[in-house]
Amino acid sequence: MDIGVFIPIGNNGWLISKTSPQYKPSFDLNKEIVLKAESYGLDFALSMIKLRGFGGETEFWDYNLESFTLMAGLAAVTSKIQLYATAPTLVLPPAIMARMATTIDSISNGRFGVNLVTGWQRPEYSQMGMWPGDQFFGNRYEYLEEYITVVKELWETGQSDFKGEHFQMDDCRMLPKPSRDIPIICAGQSAAGMAFSAKHADYNFCFGKGVNTPTAFAPTAERLIEAADQAGRKVDSAVLIMVIADETDDKAMAKWQLYKDGKDQTALDWMTEQGAADKTSGKDTNVRDMTNPTSAVNLNMGTLVGSYASVAAMLDEIATVPGCGGVLLTFDDFLKGMDDFGTKIQPLMKSREHVVSAAGAA
Ligand SMILES: Cc1cc2nc3c(=O)[nH]c(=O)nc-3n(C[C@H](O)[C@H](O)[C@H](O)COP(=O)(O)O)c2cc1C
Repeated sequence: MDIGVFIPIGNNGWLISKTSPQYKPSFDLNKEIVLKAESYGLDFALSMIKLRGFGGETEFWDYNLESFTLMAGLAAVTSKIQLYATAPTLVLPPAIMARMATTIDSISNGRFGVNLVTGWQRPEYSQMGMWPGDQFFGNRYEYLEEYITVVKELWETGQSDFKGEHFQMDDCRMLPKPSRDIPIICAGQSAAGMAFSAKHADYNFCFGKGVNTPTAFAPTAERLIEAADQAGRKVDSAVLIMVIADETDDKAMAKWQLYKDGKDQTALDWMTEQGAADKTSGKDTNVRDMTNPTSAVNLNMGTLVGSYASVAAMLDEIATVPGCGGVLLTFDDFLKGMDDFGTKIQPLMKSREHVVSAAGAA
């Protein structure tokens, strides 16, 4: 099973709390995290794109770096780990994105891939006058289908004459071609999103579910298997998980309780309002799950809380879920969390024995 890290490109990572570690994003912080990840044999690092935060006392995600430029910097200072940036496809023309990706492919010597998002939070785009109207909630994966068609034509042939509803190319040129097929990931959870991933992506990210219920995302992974079967392709799920670990289960649980007690209600209210805005496509998108009061403090992402041994055992359980090819990790404290993962959790994991033994042999 591959392991990746969802690096904190936005302030405070993924905890919308006044009592969790408080920090701002910087290149130096993300560099330190990714260099640690690389040294522990992690397979990939991903940064998101977020153009508008949730506010509140913690100014949650009001501070965010830009994904492609951050990954370009990280590409220059790493050598093994795969790097993924997230493309805000609504505001980044496909021919520009294709060229940016080709550039980072060159900087990284073929270690770069792209996460495609349609966007789900209207103010991120309406604040720039770039929200096309709420009908976009309903046709965003049709838009993305045209987008990827242009991008792939440019990467594969250096030229596109694509004419669609959203994009019209006129002998568009883009050279050099990238050094390899640039991997595509997506995190579609709706039927349309999953159908897109089934057709075009190498991986589909999905949300883990619940606290200490590591295999609860299995039905989502199953839906992707079905969609990929229909598309005649094989696409693995990679599940998004937060790890809160300590020496004992009780100590870890106390930290989780502390973070929950300190939830930033104003920021959470903003997120709930945004999650409810999609009234057009809405029924099967999962963004409402993020705002469910059960665990909105970390966007209801699957959470593993426990001793290093407990977390290792739960990660191994994840590896048994059919269709699961990877885990994307977040931490309450990324620097300590990355070290704890590398030195105390991963060595206990059966699903990572190949990485630990390769490091021992080196
Ligand atoms: C791991 C992961 C990363 C994501 N990254 C972003 C991101 O950077 N920006 C964004 O607007 N949405 C992001 N999303 C949201 C997805 O792109 C997608 O819109 C969401 O999962 C809902 O699925 P749907 O679009 O099929 O309804 C991410 C989701 C996951 C699980």
